[in-house]
Amino acid sequence: MSSLETTVLVTGGAGFIGSNFLLHSVRRHPRCRFVNLDKLTYAGNLRGLEALSNGDPHVFVRGDVADATTLDDVFERYRPSIVVHFAAESHVDRSILGPADFVRTNIEGTFQLLEACRRHFPRGEGLFHHVSTDEVFGSLGETGAFHEGTPYDPSSPYSASKAASDHLVRAYHRTYGLPIKITNCSNNYGPRQFPEKLVPLMIMNALEGRELPIYGEGKNVRDWLYVDDHCDAIWAVIERGRVGETYVIGGRAERRNVEVVELVARLVAEETGVAPETILERRRFVADRPGHDHRYAIDPSKIERELGWRPRESFVSGMKKTVRWYLENEAWVDEVRTGEYRRWIEANYGRRGGEAA
Ligand code: NAD
Ligand code: DAU
Repeated sequence: MSSLETTVLVTGGAGFIGSNFLLHSVRRHPRCRFVNLDKLTYAGNLRGLEALSNGDPHVFVRGDVADATTLDDVFERYRPSIVVHFAAESHVDRSILGPADFVRTNIEGTFQLLEACRRHFPRGEGLFHHVSTDEVFGSLGETGAFHEGTPYDPSSPYSASKAASDHLVRAYHRTYGLPIKITNCSNNYGPRQFPEKLVPLMIMNALEGRELPIYGEGKNVRDWLYVDDHCDAIWAVIERGRVGETYVIGGRAERRNVEVVELVARLVAEETGVAPETILERRRFVADRPGHDHRYAIDPSKIERELGWRPRESFVSGMKKTVRWYLENEAWVDEVRTGEYRRWIEANYGRRGGEAA
């Protein structure tokens, strides 16, 4: 029997933000046990979690959030009182090429998880924390910022599926009284991010002497947040946020994509001794993403005012840490580049393996 007081079910804990959340949380919340339920899609990589063994306080279960039987097994066996729901298909470009998995995991998966909470949480107890995105609000013009009252206006199959999941979560609170909280965060960057996303793709390509593909004219704006600051914000909301409320999260760090690429090139150059121009001359302006949102920006006044949350990292300090992490973790980078991490997962966890639910 475990002597840990609270069991937290983390879905998608082998992904980028989920794995950072687990590493962050096991250190800072020693009274919690964390059950990590992850399907291990291409985006799930347990190599990043080797610092945590499989057993208290971190238990890994390979499974699908859209599968009700798996969820019943997990809830019956571990009796979580908090669910932090990260599991999702998360990449906009993939959602344009194949939306079906996004509908299944992001909508059906969230629905099944809500139903499992309804079956297993005592009425009015427990907490469902839904990790969502600022992309549900669509695209901004040159001014203004998203806030908790911004109307939904998603552009891609990814953001539409996340919007649908937010609506379901809110509806379960209003209709069934399920205790929920929702956070909508801006673009994260940091260690262990899969190199299909802008920042890790640029870092790895810069290190390997490859081209740096920039969509359109590179003028699109994102509001960047270091992943650990997002994890802190999630805990602030879990511990002190009001039930039924939404909090938007962002680092007040808006940058055009060309600026992000320039900073990555400068930092990689500083760390490796390669001239920045040698990296920058490999920039390539390529065909734009269909339906490409022009600008995202967050007004985080509510979480700052109500919960006292502030990011610790500036855009430059967070990016320095990130570039260093990719330089110092050559084995992780190599395994991701070669696909070896998938072979390791299948050898260790099999098609259905992991801790039996
Ligand atoms: P990710 O793609 O890196 O990780 C997703 C994880 O979910 C993977 O480990 C994958 O194996 C798992 N997964 C996928 N389908 C599953 C299923 N059916 N059942 C169980 N597990 C499944 O994603 P991320 O960037 O870490 O994002 C995590 C969450 O945060 C997502 O909900 C995303 O919408 C949200 N979010 C991301 C960002 C960002 O900038 N990355 C910003 C705001 C919000
Ligand atoms: O805003 C939060 C969202 O941020 C999350 O909900 C998503 O899960 C996450 O993937 C991210 O979405 P984006 O589409 O903003 O991130 P991405 O890294 O794919 O792209 C960032 C910007 O960089 C975007 O304007 C597209 C551009 N881009 C991206 C890639 C992969 C390029 O110019 N070149 C590229 O090769």
